[in-house]
Amino acid sequence: MEIKFEKETGLFTISNSKISYIMQLVKNNYLAHVYYGKKIDDFNPYCSYYEVEHEGAPQPFDYPEGRIFSLECLPQEMPAYGCGDFKYPAVQVRLDNGTTSLDLRYESHEILKGKNKTKNLPSSYVNNEEDALTLVITLKEVGGKLKVKLYYTVFENESLIVRSSEIINTSDKEQKLHQLASMCLDFADGSFDRVHMYGSHANERNIDRVPLNHGIDVVSSARGATSHQHNNFLALCSKDATEEHGEVYASTLVWSGNFEAVTELSCYGYTRMVMGINSFDFEWILKPGESFTAPEAVIVYADNGFNGMSRSFHHFVKEHIVRGRWKDQLRPVLANSWEAAYFDFDQDSIVRFARDAIALGVELIVLDDGWFGHRDNDKTSLGDWTIINKKKLPYGISGLCDEIHHLGAKFGLWIEPEMISHDSELFKAHPDWALSVPDHKRSTGRDQYVLDLSRKDVRDYVVESISTVLSSASIDYVKWDMNRNLTEIGSLSFPEKQQGEIATRYVLGLYDIVERITSRFENILFESCSGGGRRFDMGMLCYMPQVWTSDNTDAVARQRIQYGTSYLYPPVTMGAHVSAVPNHQLNRITSMLTRFTCAMSGNFGYEMDLGKLSPQEQEEVKYQIGIYKKYRETLQTGDFIRLISPFEGNRNETSWSFVSKDQSEVILMYFRNLVQNGMPLTRIRFKGLKQGAKYQCVVHECPSVLSVKHEMSGQVFSAEYLENRGLIMDKCDSDFAAHLYVLKEVK
Ligand code: GLA
Repeated sequence: MEIKFEKETGLFTISNSKISYIMQLVKNNYLAHVYYGKKIDDFNPYCSYYEVEHEGAPQPFDYPEGRIFSLECLPQEMPAYGCGDFKYPAVQVRLDNGTTSLDLRYESHEILKGKNKTKNLPSSYVNNEEDALTLVITLKEVGGKLKVKLYYTVFENESLIVRSSEIINTSDKEQKLHQLASMCLDFADGSFDRVHMYGSHANERNIDRVPLNHGIDVVSSARGATSHQHNNFLALCSKDATEEHGEVYASTLVWSGNFEAVTELSCYGYTRMVMGINSFDFEWILKPGESFTAPEAVIVYADNGFNGMSRSFHHFVKEHIVRGRWKDQLRPVLANSWEAAYFDFDQDSIVRFARDAIALGVELIVLDDGWFGHRDNDKTSLGDWTIINKKKLPYGISGLCDEIHHLGAKFGLWIEPEMISHDSELFKAHPDWALSVPDHKRSTGRDQYVLDLSRKDVRDYVVESISTVLSSASIDYVKWDMNRNLTEIGSLSFPEKQQGEIATRYVLGLYDIVERITSRFENILFESCSGGGRRFDMGMLCYMPQVWTSDNTDAVARQRIQYGTSYLYPPVTMGAHVSAVPNHQLNRITSMLTRFTCAMSGNFGYEMDLGKLSPQEQEEVKYQIGIYKKYRETLQTGDFIRLISPFEGNRNETSWSFVSKDQSEVILMYFRNLVQNGMPLTRIRFKGLKQGAKYQCVVHECPSVLSVKHEMSGQVFSAEYLENRGLIMDKCDSDFAAHLYVLKEVK
């Protein structure tokens, strides 16, 4: 791992054993982007940027040598509008003189050990300073009004770069920031496909791949959160890229609010990729001396396809994003009351629910929505966290918590701290605490308003009231929900000229409260949720090591949702529960085996009343939980490899596998949704096995009736056989079928 600067050539080289990221100072100190990709040991600094004459391309004022140099064609690290580059910019400021032209030139740089912490924002980290190096480059606006600092961190073993930027007002007047991107990546060519993930509530993270077209394409959120609709992820890949082959440049933000991910293929064939806080409807007033910091972007380079990309993201999330007590601990099997009871429960019914679940092996009982105020439906009481509903819970949260602990399980609780119901004591006392715009009535979403987290007094109330609840009992787990998009984004406590800051201030306020609460209750396992997967991002993962992936628990829909989510996030971060049939979202009936096989591929639990199952089904659940616990370590810490995509081919099959860290255990899941006559057999070739090893099939299918074993069990295969010849999947004789194979290395 190395960062170096060569004065004679102006070359900055950032590299580790896998990648090189190279920039160069050209002409009068423009910071050009030269290369990002597989490590190059000996980089020739000559001819590394382009000098091409394009009729009409403007020249910078201080460029003496004719018409072959223009910002229009120069790949740049922090491009701005106004001085010859007409492509999508990475930074825009309305200066105090009313104009927006920015000319940014290199001023200085420093190389630091370790990783910088991003001001007021979640950021990636290293435990040991020796594991990362950071380059900070300062650019100066030629008029002297602004400086921009660019941060680049390289990690010892990661095939990625982390970037962020900071802008500082060095003038004695106010400057108005309109855009500060976290990253920009320029390419000399344009032969890419563009990949992103779209969706909706209960239908998150579908993979969308299209050829890059001329012009600007924007994927974004203006909903106040990352959103169900577009995850804050964007990749450019070579045309031939598959799960296993081809080049992928992929970026995501350590950020949970409005974002934009932009690609532009210029008419000269150059490609630009820009990601950051959404510049639509964004403003930030910079007073003299003030600065603004953009969230981190994590930019992966993979030369081994999308599985390669995901391996890098997964490893990074596990090692440099998730932190705290739960980072390396195996996560408990949980049963959540939501789909089991919704709002209809009391102490006795929850204790009965818990007893039945614990008898089958469940380790954590979660009481979901409905335990506070008079919340018997979703129209009321949000904000009244300290008013426990004594009709339902006569002994309070602590009474229930003690009882669950007594039964031998951990206890968890649902909260939604960012919200306020119109019908609540909190709203009666503080109607001005909800986000609002003068002369407008507030829109509702799920009959609730959003608290104005830009206000310190509101944040202090949230921290105090939630802390009161969390200290009232020995709570082991918290599900932190957020159930609506932001509208009428305004704050009564900020002046008019700062209203464009409120969407961003909301997210900064959110980070303030989650930081204060999670650090105070560091033993609690927090799961982030936002109507399922509205806020599945690395920002929230810095505080909460797991996320409720989707409100859709149907095992068929979940194959796509989990497949897409796994592009960025390791399965241990993805809440996945077995629920009742007919499924509550889609009415579909799937077997217990299919539901189990899908849910065990994530952070496993149940979202149903296990006491209502037949004795035979309960036996099956007990067996399945036993299987899960036996292979939990591989499922939660192993490598996840996608094998058949539900978004490609016949879209009828999905397959993925887990390989333990030492490659001695392999778990393969295969789903086939619809059967049909004459359907060809499917051969699956395993990936990521230990070369030369032999593997024995120890579990082939979890039987729906115990101890029915298939002839495959006990068979021994070489790694080469499994990777090259592969296994033919059994014929499925009913719709929505699943097969589960566990293979273990034999000496
Ligand atoms: C959201 C969550 C669900 C559940 C409900 C409770 O929709 O995603 O899992 O907690 O809220 O109201």
